[in-house]
Amino acid sequence: MPLKGRVFSGMRPTGRLHLGNYLGALQNWVELQKDYQCIYCAVDVHALTTMKPQEKAELKPNIREMVIDWLAAGVDPQQSIVFVQSHVPEVMVLNTLLSMITPLGWLLRVPTFKEKVRQMEETEETVSYGLVGYPVLMTADIILYKADTVPVGEDQLPHLELAREIVRRFNFWYGETFPEPQGKLTEAPLILGLDGKQKMSKSLDNHVELAASPDETRKRTLTAFTDPQRLRRSDPGRPWVCNVYTLHKYFNPAGAQVVYDECTTARRGCVDCKGHLAQAVNTYLAPFRECRREYEANPSLVDAVLADGAHRAAAIARETIREVKERMGLL
Ligand code: TRP
Repeated sequence: MPLKGRVFSGMRPTGRLHLGNYLGALQNWVELQKDYQCIYCAVDVHALTTMKPQEKAELKPNIREMVIDWLAAGVDPQQSIVFVQSHVPEVMVLNTLLSMITPLGWLLRVPTFKEKVRQMEETEETVSYGLVGYPVLMTADIILYKADTVPVGEDQLPHLELAREIVRRFNFWYGETFPEPQGKLTEAPLILGLDGKQKMSKSLDNHVELAASPDETRKRTLTAFTDPQRLRRSDPGRPWVCNVYTLHKYFNPAGAQVVYDECTTARRGCVDCKGHLAQAVNTYLAPFRECRREYEANPSLVDAVLADGAHRAAAIARETIREVKERMGLL
């Protein structure tokens, strides 16, 4: 079957991924390989927009841990291009060229920008030029490879809207060059953390790492919040408000109906239910964890994947840069 188009997506290198990253993004990346030519990028330059200098020692190990998670989950480097953003510096050239056609007003009105400034306890005076330009670099990532499909979370849709505006302006001013990239949302809804309230995230420490040991998985899962109205073991539970039940649906799909029935009739308690979930997660992730150990034991395998990925990405990138320079009058 012919491929439907070209996918590009990036993740900031935050280190080991968790169950929420898997259900929300990574699983989708793996699936898309069946229908698209896929390019997956560890966006280390983007990471610098919000990093403190004392965190720099974590950057390279975080890239490696994250890329190992991708590979162990089934991102296939034979088929897809897997690389580190800064290894193909052409993206920074394109970023500069696109910055010449991007009005500052477009960037200042991106909703996530003001939000980030507040989170970082900065002001619009002290915030870096690079942070304002975050969506321009993201646009450069995507269109350097002329990708038309971009799997992302809902939070990234404003960035893609801006990417399309930049592309339309480029195409209008300099001639049809780039496809307008479309976002592709994952079907999995937002995955909540062990607190059952907020999105699963490393910074909130309400997560379970994919790479966790079975024992650690069990310990963390046992801390999960369930139906807050179920006070006694003899009370029937409400699985439809319980995040542990939601996770059963993903990691224990064949057994989820039984969980539902036993919970609503108080035939299972929450502690047993969480132990059961931990077991299901451990079974589900066993092949992933096995594969992960192989990459951990052979660091040169990961280096080879990233070197090959950068090589293949650079071949496309050089061609686009030549074309862009020509169209903008530099060549
Ligand atoms: N901004 C994205 C995020 O924070 C990461 C990213 C960078 C990206 N470049 C990209 C995503 C290009 C998709 C395409 O999640």
